[in-house]
Amino acid sequence: MIQKNYLKTIEFLNQSFARVRDANRVFVSSVREGVLSDHQISKKTQPPAWLLFARETLRNPRAMGTGWSSTPQLARTIASFVPLTESGLVVELGGGTGIVTEALLQHGIPPERLVSIEQAATLADYIRQRCPQIRVLKGDALHLCDLLGNDSQRVSTIVSGLPFRSIPPVIGHEIIKQIDKVLPKNGLMIQFTYDLSGRRIFLPHHFKRVAHKFVWKNIPPARVDVYQSDK
Ligand SMILES: C[S@@+](CC[C@H](N)C(=O)[O-])C[C@H]1O[C@@H](n2cnc3c(N)ncnc32)[C@H](O)[C@@H]1O
Repeated sequence: MIQKNYLKTIEFLNQSFARVRDANRVFVSSVREGVLSDHQISKKTQPPAWLLFARETLRNPRAMGTGWSSTPQLARTIASFVPLTESGLVVELGGGTGIVTEALLQHGIPPERLVSIEQAATLADYIRQRCPQIRVLKGDALHLCDLLGNDSQRVSTIVSGLPFRSIPPVIGHEIIKQIDKVLPKNGLMIQFTYDLSGRRIFLPHHFKRVAHKFVWKNIPPARVDVYQSDK
């Protein structure tokens, strides 16, 4: 059984590396041929998600934290931790190309409960096209309370795709303060990380880790942590 899972994981990683390698080849040759200028990309009706993601990573590597989006397996695992019984808002921070956003909808979160916040305009537009039934805010999580307005009182869960280990710590701390402000007692914050060592991100002490799960089928493998505010 262990050997079967091991072989499956190796096969998955090989296939994924091949996909990334092919995508990189296309990307590099496209850059060389000058087909990736802003003007030309905006003329295309639907540029592929990987291309938008890679472009943003070149523009702003610290904010992106990685060169490609999460796998569907990681997205599904993140979504599976969001309770369906609550009535409050589920706010996604750092929606990227919307893979987790879509998984949240498939998990059963009603569209009117879901808000996705993304700082990069091209990615926010992409999520809008991918998930037209939800509210997508183009903005910085640093201004979470202002972005949500009165809705900041209605949040029950934060699903964060923010790369807290690569964004500058001062900014990370300010974002955490905003998250702490909007989350009520018992509110959840779900965060994934590529650091498998078990270290938690900087969070106030009243955030307790209540669950976690490793996802091997991601590049790189990831851990999903669920924190609950006990304030
Ligand atoms: C690691 S990617 C995750 C994308 C997606 N959630 C996924 O799992 O594939 C991080 C995303 O956070 C966004 N981001 C980084 N800093 C942000 C901030 N301060 N406010 C809003 N979005 C931010 C980036 O633009 C990027 O789309």
